[in-house]
Amino acid sequence: MDDERLPGTVDAGESACERLEEGHSGASTLLRLVIIGAGGFGRECQGIVEAVNSVRPTWDFVGFVDDREPDPDLLRRQGGRWLGPPRDIGMHAPSHFVAAVSDPSLRRTWSEEAEMAGLLPATLIHPTATVGRDVELGRGTVVASHSSLTTNIRVGAHVQIDQNVAIGHDAILGSFSRINPGATISGNVTVADGATVGTNAAIIQGLSVGAGSFVGAGAVVTRDVSPGITVVGVPARLLRSGRAERQGGLGPKALGGTS
Ligand SMILES: CC(C)(COP(=O)(O)OP(=O)(O)OC[C@H]1O[C@@H](n2cnc3c(N)ncnc32)[C@H](O)[C@@H]1OP(=O)(O)O)[C@@H](O)C(=O)NCCC(=O)NCCS
Repeated sequence: MDDERLPGTVDAGESACERLEEGHSGASTLLRLVIIGAGGFGRECQGIVEAVNSVRPTWDFVGFVDDREPDPDLLRRQGGRWLGPPRDIGMHAPSHFVAAVSDPSLRRTWSEEAEMAGLLPATLIHPTATVGRDVELGRGTVVASHSSLTTNIRVGAHVQIDQNVAIGHDAILGSFSRINPGATISGNVTVADGATVGTNAAIIQGLSVGAGSFVGAGAVVTRDVSPGITVVGVPARLLRSGRAERQGGLGPKALGGTS
């Protein structure tokens, strides 16, 4: 796991909102926050920010940075602003940020650039998430609604734990990993840096998911997964000896169709 987990870690024993106020002397001053990436998860992160603020006003959400201008109508309904491309993020310092892109290497690049430009990583925990004792969350990590982390868990920097995820005792999630909605990470599992675990996948206790690997949606992992590969199915088997380039499932194929 990257050392960069350590400086911004938040520990258990505090409420989610108290954690968010790390370095913040009082609830009266809102902290400016920029979300990097206006895609699906970025917009969901805005929802997490609003949920946190409804419990205790903490963040002043400034807007999204993204390479491409998002659909203005979508953004208007979202109630968010496009601030420009990530390369100009320094214009928004001083501010906090979360890197809300699913691709781990892009997340790493953009979060490094944001930090070099003087922004600070924010750790976001949805108020409905359950975070037990002795749980460390690295800087820039996001925990979405109804996820649960039990005890003695170490989560690195800029990790994305999406909705309804269960993380069991003594698990380790490396920096820049991503756990998609509904996945189950059993006790004593290690998910290494930059790995992605697909929607509703389950990792059996004590196993390791290698760095940069991709576990497909719905897979049941019964053996260690080597670094950099893609596995799918029940039990999980090798799909390809490289990481999936995207989350998958967006191709032109249609069941019963001709394409
Ligand atoms: C594993 C994954 C990344 C592969 O994506 P891909 O590289 O685009 O793969 P393809 O769609 O080309 O499929 C290749 C083959 O693998 C099979 N396959 C793909 N994903 C599978 C999965 N999750 N489980 C079982 N089989 C799968 C396909 O049916 C196809 O088989 P075929 O060649 O017999 O038709 C993707 O399917 C996946 O599961 N992504 C996770 C999605 C997710 O969690 N989304 C949540 C976002 S919040």
